[in-house]
Amino acid sequence: MSAPNIETIVSLAKRRGFVFPSSEIYGGLGSAWDYGPLGVELCNNVKRAWWRWMVYERDDIEGLDSSIILNRSVWKHSGHEETFSDPLVDCRECNSRFRYDKLLDEHPPVSAALRTLMQPSDVMRDFPCPNCGKSNWTESRPFNLMFRTQLGAAAAEDDPNALAYLRPETAQGIFINFHLVQQTMRRKVPFGIAQIGKSFRNEVTPGNFIFRTREFEQMEMEYFVRPGEDETAHQEWIDNCFNWYTSLGLSRDNLRLYEQPKEELAHYAKRTVDIHYRFFPERAEEEKHWDELMGIANRTDFDLRAHSKNPLDAEGKRVNPDSTEDLSYFDEARKERYYPYVIEPAAGVNRSVLAFLMDAYSERTNDKGETRVILQLHPDLAPIKVAVLPLARNKPEIVGMAKGIKRALQPVMRAVYDDTGGIGKLYARQDETGTPFCVTVDHQSLEDEAVTVRDRDTWEQERVKVADLQQHLRQRLEVRG
Ligand code: GAP
Repeated sequence: MSAPNIETIVSLAKRRGFVFPSSEIYGGLGSAWDYGPLGVELCNNVKRAWWRWMVYERDDIEGLDSSIILNRSVWKHSGHEETFSDPLVDCRECNSRFRYDKLLDEHPPVSAALRTLMQPSDVMRDFPCPNCGKSNWTESRPFNLMFRTQLGAAAAEDDPNALAYLRPETAQGIFINFHLVQQTMRRKVPFGIAQIGKSFRNEVTPGNFIFRTREFEQMEMEYFVRPGEDETAHQEWIDNCFNWYTSLGLSRDNLRLYEQPKEELAHYAKRTVDIHYRFFPERAEEEKHWDELMGIANRTDFDLRAHSKNPLDAEGKRVNPDSTEDLSYFDEARKERYYPYVIEPAAGVNRSVLAFLMDAYSERTNDKGETRVILQLHPDLAPIKVAVLPLARNKPEIVGMAKGIKRALQPVMRAVYDDTGGIGKLYARQDETGTPFCVTVDHQSLEDEAVTVRDRDTWEQERVKVADLQQHLRQRLEVRG
């Protein structure tokens, strides 16, 4: 079947307890979402799968959990204070505010050359405002995306000494801890530092459900390599990341690699390749189906140099007078000192969750002609691994046996017990939430100590002895330690 659109997923997510509109009882809060009982499990499973793959299954990566609020100097020297902004334009008629670059993307006939030559108000002279339809625009101006806050109870609102930011990426927390991790863990380059955590961006145009929000979670890893070995390492990480998504079930047909053209590259990047997912299959043009799921950047030695106390600029002046450390690295084997280059795979938890939900969505018609939704999530990601269901909920022996089986399974896998409907309804509910297996306890079970195991994807059933059940399910789920 064709891929679902985001609205189908929004509706399923709310109906089944994955994602709720935030603050709904107060009318909501634009583009803020809360993860419900199954959503939090799915997010945790995505993060766990990433951490296991990135940290535990390799020998060269350490983990970190740095502060969300860092010394303001971090953002000054990383370049975020100066350059982490989107160009904004206002409609003078209705006061709506838009991203200039996104409006231009909606009007492709405006060539890149023209954009750079003309003032935004001239380029956009004939563009209708998406809100009111009139054409009366201001010039564009930069809008910094970092959320500002004040530190300390006594700080005056405009006290620059109390100004702090919520981090817009987790990466900088890694760079400023580079030496501490390297030295405490006695690491030699090449090695990496991984971090998962919340980031915040005051996006001008958030939207498309959990695709773009102002508060989101990132999974980032900074891999430090010797200059000159960066290009090979970069290509390896591009391939690794693509394969990680397919290993967890994303279809290759819905993924593509996108080489960022020079004019799109961030100020620190030598080369960046994004992994795109087909998030918007309903959009008319094929090119507009795709958007970024994660980015894999070659950040060069920009960040370690920027945060070091000593680098000199062309005139011999110190570039960073605030840092107390030189973050260069001494390579004992080669007897050389250098600033390592950094390869950065950076993924969004929430965008990954959206892609996994969209890719897992399928529909099947049963023998009564009813259409059922099946969420064919990879077992590692499924919020619930097994549901134990009694065939007769008014029979205490069957209920007791089913509850006992659930209790025996729960220390090794996420198991639930459910008797709130007929068996057809219970199966449908578990299919829709992506539970790989249902275990049904019936009258026969009381005699033969066996249960029926039903497979979500094939709807096939097999009889399994209760004594063998845990082992049977573990094998099929490939539950890892
Ligand atoms: N440290 C590099 C960095 O932050 P990025 O491409 O800006 O790079 C990495 O962000 C990933 O974070 C994106 O590929 C996306 O998955 C996720 N992301 C970025 N902004 C987001 C937002 N406003 N809402 C949800 N996810 C976002």
